[in-house]
Amino acid sequence: MKVIYYGHSCLGVETGGRHLLFDPFISSNPLAKTIDAGKIPADFILISHGHADHIGDAVTIAKRTGATCLSNFEIATWLQARGVAKVIPMNLGGAVACDFGRVKLVSALHSSSLPDGTYGGNPGGWLVDAAAGNFYFSGDTALTLDMKLVGESVKLKWAALCLGDHFTMGVDDALKAADFIRCQQIVGIHYDTFPPIQIDHEVAKTKFRAAGKRLHLLAVGESHTF
Ligand code: NI
Ligand code: MN
Repeated sequence: MKVIYYGHSCLGVETGGRHLLFDPFISSNPLAKTIDAGKIPADFILISHGHADHIGDAVTIAKRTGATCLSNFEIATWLQARGVAKVIPMNLGGAVACDFGRVKLVSALHSSSLPDGTYGGNPGGWLVDAAAGNFYFSGDTALTLDMKLVGESVKLKWAALCLGDHFTMGVDDALKAADFIRCQQIVGIHYDTFPPIQIDHEVAKTKFRAAGKRLHLLAVGESHTF
């Protein structure tokens, strides 16, 4: 399963012959100037919550690629009203079967207004059960005991955890989250993009290493195969 980092919380995941795209925020990301949002492949776009740094390029990419957008009910219907043809409106705790695997919308502790001020429902994270392995994408969230439910329910191959602090978990809470979800291989997201969420990479990696875990802080455009 190949994972490519497009900056901030945006990840591309290739699994089962499909391209999954999480939280596309590229054209307005000052650290993603090397990425062309007009060329990113997507069969499914998964949106964790309504904030602009997560839904940024979703409409444009969905229209270009014809991708199916998965999100909560409020965000999915907002996308539909903006001309996105294929949406799957979900809500917390629910899962849907897609051709590449099963996708569950799990809880996140955050907020979720849309860029135009529309109510964006509740924020979420994603639990993906694919043939090549299970993985969890935290979205924006505080550390929450609900993460233990993820760890109890599936064996994760890897997980993307927010760790930039200020708006979400910081590094120390992300390390606790990695314990809660029982996962050793962590991809960091939601860090460095803006001054309040800049982190010290070596300090963060060392903390994970000391706990017997591996923290991948991928460069923008870099990929890793799990
Ligand atoms: Ni947010
Ligand atoms: Mn965010």
